[in-house]
Amino acid sequence: MLTDKHVLELNASQLLSEVVGFETNEVARTALGSSVTTFSGREFIDFTGGIAVHALGHGHAEVVAAIVEQAAKVLHVSDIMRHVPQLELAQFLRERFAEAVGGEEWALLFMNSGSESIDAAAKLALKATGRHKFVAFEGAFHGRTLFASALSRSKKVHWAAYEGFLSPLRADIHHVSAPRCGGCTQQRDDCCMNSLERLLDEIGDEVAAVFFEAQQGEGGYHPMSLEAAMRMRELTTSHGILLIADEIQSGFGRTGRWFGFEHLGISPDMVVFGKAVGGGLPLAGFGASRSLMGRWQPGEHGTTFGGNPIACAAGLAALRVIEREGLIGRAARLGEAVTARLCELVGQYGVADVRGNGLMIGVELRDPNGQPDYLRCDAVKLRCREAGLLILTCGAKIGNPAADNSTLRLIPPLNTPEPVLWQGIAILEAALQVIA
Ligand SMILES: Cc1ncc(COP(=O)(O)O)c(C=O)c1O
Repeated sequence: MLTDKHVLELNASQLLSEVVGFETNEVARTALGSSVTTFSGREFIDFTGGIAVHALGHGHAEVVAAIVEQAAKVLHVSDIMRHVPQLELAQFLRERFAEAVGGEEWALLFMNSGSESIDAAAKLALKATGRHKFVAFEGAFHGRTLFASALSRSKKVHWAAYEGFLSPLRADIHHVSAPRCGGCTQQRDDCCMNSLERLLDEIGDEVAAVFFEAQQGEGGYHPMSLEAAMRMRELTTSHGILLIADEIQSGFGRTGRWFGFEHLGISPDMVVFGKAVGGGLPLAGFGASRSLMGRWQPGEHGTTFGGNPIACAAGLAALRVIEREGLIGRAARLGEAVTARLCELVGQYGVADVRGNGLMIGVELRDPNGQPDYLRCDAVKLRCREAGLLILTCGAKIGNPAADNSTLRLIPPLNTPEPVLWQGIAILEAALQVIA
């Protein structure tokens, strides 16, 4: 067992690959609820939630109890046989999909991470349609596997180093304009749906699926507009294309609805989920109608660890708490209040826009010339950290990747106590003022 002194003396940057870009050199000591303490003796309010994972905050007692209880029963059986937590979680999710999508009953496939679930959904789309092309949006982020990286067009650092390999893959992956207008006028040539329509007029019968985020995450917390979503659904249906919602970040109450696409009045054909579904453990997957899922033959896809019993038990416990405690409605209510408060800052301290649904809120900063102010954004983030608040940034500047990360990104746990939530917002406001 390492002593505190030894932990502080470890040279973390020599032990661990730096590629993941750790936000801070602090080492976590304990994490409970909305708070993280570190070996340097600091305590932070956490508005990052392990990157949108902790819908219930850190170490929720019911989630921990479910983990301990399940560990003593079945730890891991893989694809050898089914197990109770996976069946129960599938049942829970099927009911949520029945409410959100309706129609035929859905079936679930569980994997470990969002990225590999995106790949799995793409493989099913290839198999089911017999087509070989995919469409995604500029500014999208769908993950880190090679396919998900090729599908993504958010921060340049995510894909630029691999461009030589990814560009041939992109012969079959097409990107249409980012859904950014906030209300669909369809007047502009670069309007996302005009650009989708033009593309599908050309190659629609070769496209297996269109992937979308109801609220772009890494791309800058831009919610898609209702009109754009409706048109996307019409266009994909008329070309026989599967519509795949990436709810990995926006799912499970984060936006004030179970799923982000519920704000858009459309029903996707597949829903990819991750992050919060595991209650803090690695779990992800996707859902689709039983007939669509049934287009696969056994063995055409698989996983060793996906849908692990402990992860499923933890996830189920977390989702039950979210439902029982009405945390989705709470996220909607508190999200509105926080957004309204931050909107008062628009036009001051470089705040150009405040957007998002529920507790998935982006605060975009621009310089006096109206350009994305990623430098100030980074400075505000660091200032918040000094003052005891952990936040992240996001944002893809289409056409100018040097200006990525100009949006402050707030994703507090859905059950953050109100005084703590407002304390965090006060720290953010003070940081905005100081950095100005
Ligand atoms: C919208 C979206 N899709 C996909 C992913 C990739 O998920 P994972 O990191 O679990 O592979 C993420 C992760 O941030 C995401 O936000």
